[in-house]
Amino acid sequence: MGTVGDAANKDTNGSLAEKKPTVVFVLGGPGSGKGTQCANIVQHFGFTHLSAGDLLRAEQKSGSENGTMIQNMIKEGKIVPSEVTIKLLQKAMEESGNDKFLIDGFPRNEENRAAFETVTQIEPAFVLFFDCSEEEMERRLLSRNEGREDDNIETIRKRFKVFLESSLPVIQHYESRGKVRKIDAGRPIEEVFESVKAIFTPKNEKAE
Ligand code: ADP
Ligand code: C5P
Ligand code: MG
Repeated sequence: MGTVGDAANKDTNGSLAEKKPTVVFVLGGPGSGKGTQCANIVQHFGFTHLSAGDLLRAEQKSGSENGTMIQNMIKEGKIVPSEVTIKLLQKAMEESGNDKFLIDGFPRNEENRAAFETVTQIEPAFVLFFDCSEEEMERRLLSRNEGREDDNIETIRKRFKVFLESSLPVIQHYESRGKVRKIDAGRPIEEVFESVKAIFTPKNEKAE
């Protein structure tokens, strides 16, 4: 029985699915500290960090045919169609040579989630969820200073709305399957990482 997803899988993704990579989805509101903590996880646990937002910004800057669409979506805090984002993620996974990935900021909505599952046939090992108040996230985003076009109060409010309406349901989907590891992300960076470490450290090493 061939579905569109099977066909896409056979054509573009045979080698990736066969590798059975370990994938951890890293989710949380904008400014909750996903990128910051992923950098720490990479150093300690040998994962490759793939930020969907970073990949989309790089694609936009590369002058791709989707560049203007991506720029407009990011400026409005909207979610880019999964077809674009999944291709970027697959390419980055294939090129990395690694088999352990932190996929940060993806899946951002139900469409992202279902399409990734269908196209890649990869199930996440678990979902790391950085839980943080809007007040704290807003403070962090307004002082991030990376020159991002979406770190202004007008776009930030739109991103919070999209997070509540579209991204939280994805987290709830995985919650109902027992896959969510929730972290209180409102604390200082080092404290948050202590909790993160406990999740990534194999159980039989924890006592050492
Ligand atoms: P995200 O990737 O979830 O949008 P970032 O990791 O880029 O978030 O963090 C947003 C901003 O907040 C950055 O300037 C970062 O240095 C800062 N930051 C990250 N984690 C913390 C924390 N626990 N406490 C205070 N500031 C933080
Ligand atoms: O995760 P990050 O904050 O870097 O994402 C910035 C923007 O990139 C999002 O607000 C959204 O416009 C876009 N994005 C997307 N689909 C994703 C991740 C990010 O459209 N899965
Ligand atoms: Mg980020």
